[in-house]
Amino acid sequence: MTERRLLLVNGPNLNLLGTREPEIYGSTTLAQIEQAVTDLAEQHGLAVDAVQSNHEGVLIDAIHAARNACAGIIINPGAFTHTSVAIADALAAVELTVVEVHLSNIHKREQFRHHSYVSPVADMVVAGAGPLGYELAVRFLASRL
Ligand code: DQA
Repeated sequence: MTERRLLLVNGPNLNLLGTREPEIYGSTTLAQIEQAVTDLAEQHGLAVDAVQSNHEGVLIDAIHAARNACAGIIINPGAFTHTSVAIADALAAVELTVVEVHLSNIHKREQFRHHSYVSPVADMVVAGAGPLGYELAVRFLASRL
């Protein structure tokens, strides 16, 4: 059932989680995050499609494909958060419930990370909760969908 499916999107450099700046992003790998999201979603009767890419267009194509396949999107756009009007436009276009997740608290970091192009099209934003943020996103979507 398409309405019981979530798309989990992770942007550039998040494939390196676990070894990438662990003092900021922690030691949990992307595979572990994807597994935790899948397991928790399953408990709520939701299936998960997971995509990670370092390429903006690949992320946009995945968001478009979710339009007729998924009911909600969890997205950590990585650095594209702060640069990509195109990803924000894609999220707005598909008209799905969107949760924006950041492992770190972007508002506590460099000034250039304070602005998000994605937040205005997100229904919920989590920043600074580490991997728990993804689980909060699942719980939020499960309550909404
Ligand atoms: C991030 C924060 C971004 O500023 C950064 O470019 C990332 C990860 C986070 O999860 O905290 O790649 O989205």
